[in-house]
Amino acid sequence: MISQRKSILFLACLFIFIWLIGCKKDVQLNDSITPQNYNPTPYKFNLPASFPSMRIPKSNPMTNEGVALGKKLFYDPLLSSNNKQACVTCHQQSASFIDSGISFSRGVTGVLGDRNSMPILNVGYASAWFWDGRAKTLEELVFHPITSQNEMNQDLSELLIELNNSKEYKNMFTAAFGEGSITFDNTAKAIAQFMRTIIASTPKSLDTSKLNAAEKRGLMVFLDEKKGDCFHCHELGNFMTNFKFANNGLNKNAINNPGLYAVSRNPEDLGKFKVPALINIKYTAPYMHDGRFKTLRDVIDFYDTGFHFDPTTNFYLDPNLKKHFDNFTGKPTPRRWTEQDKQDIITFINGLVDESVNTNPQYSK
Ligand code: HEC
Ligand code: HEC
Repeated sequence: MISQRKSILFLACLFIFIWLIGCKKDVQLNDSITPQNYNPTPYKFNLPASFPSMRIPKSNPMTNEGVALGKKLFYDPLLSSNNKQACVTCHQQSASFIDSGISFSRGVTGVLGDRNSMPILNVGYASAWFWDGRAKTLEELVFHPITSQNEMNQDLSELLIELNNSKEYKNMFTAAFGEGSITFDNTAKAIAQFMRTIIASTPKSLDTSKLNAAEKRGLMVFLDEKKGDCFHCHELGNFMTNFKFANNGLNKNAINNPGLYAVSRNPEDLGKFKVPALINIKYTAPYMHDGRFKTLRDVIDFYDTGFHFDPTTNFYLDPNLKKHFDNFTGKPTPRRWTEQDKQDIITFINGLVDESVNTNPQYSK
């Protein structure tokens, strides 16, 4: 009895000891970010006047040196296992940082992914990333494509060796984070900093006087609850999204493609995906998380007559679409929009652009 108690006590002490060592290590990791030669310049955002300020995590303040390093890393195929694929491979600037024109991207091993690449614009304003929201910080997000077998398939210790072998990276990491700071943590922080600088603003989403006649009519259809009724999710304003997740009825049975539910395990999240910003849509076809629609016209027809609701399997179609569904016929209720209305709404959305995202040298290699 006594010896059993003793060994329990011993084990308890051992655990506490190991735990203390574990904590110490964390502290040391963070401490290694305060050495000499470290005097970075705070990054100054040049945000459009209507934009709120961006929430920046305290653990990753924006600096010019961090942003410059992040940009270099974003464009560098060194990040992938065979040194052939960079972030930019699937996020091309000329297409608002999506993988232009294709539904699914191919990773370094030749494997095709199963989600459509997403634009990188105003991403610093979101609070969850990826179509299903599985990344909770932009820093954490960076880890996914680099290590994913379907994408860059990189071994992280390999990557750190390669970065350490580069004099240029040694200097840039030192400038951004201090001496001896080449860690994966800092790699992710720098890339996150760069992504936060990519800002898109569309004057036409804020000021109706900037709209031509067809766009004005399109806006009215967009806002009309009997016609487009789009604004609940693609909120009119700076960002053209409410930054939430919604089930817009793409699939009859949401269980096969659960979206946010796979992350939250909350049944209400079945079939919910990130509401995309309707900015630069003109440049980011094909559309939806699986790139199923080639044109904006396909998208409009989907919202008109193509979205699904199956009361037995899919309770969670968003109320803003459920109200356009006729349970009796089992089909979307015909809306009161005309062919002209549909064309006008397309003209309106195609006008919500910020070309500078696609061309600004600040974001270029
Ligand atoms: C092989 C193609 C590929 C590569 C390489 C790639 N991405 Fe992606 N990216 C995607 C796809 C596909 C998605 C959508 C994935 C999903 O939702 O499951 C995505 C989503 C994202 C998002 C989410 C945007 C949002 O609004 O939620 C960000 C940010 C991002 N990638 C940044 C990066 C960075 C940084 C790198 C390099 C470290 C990178 N990507 C490399 C294909 C790629
Ligand atoms: C209930 C919320 C909701 C409503 C209402 C809604 N959308 Fe969407 N929209 C979404 C979601 C969520 C997605 C992404 C779905 C996915 O890929 O799984 C999306 C995707 C899109 C896309 C594709 C964007 C891209 O980058 O792939 C376009 C374009 C679009 N919607 C336009 C519209 C228009 C136009 C209307 C009105 C006729 C509308 N939406 C109404 C939630 C909504």
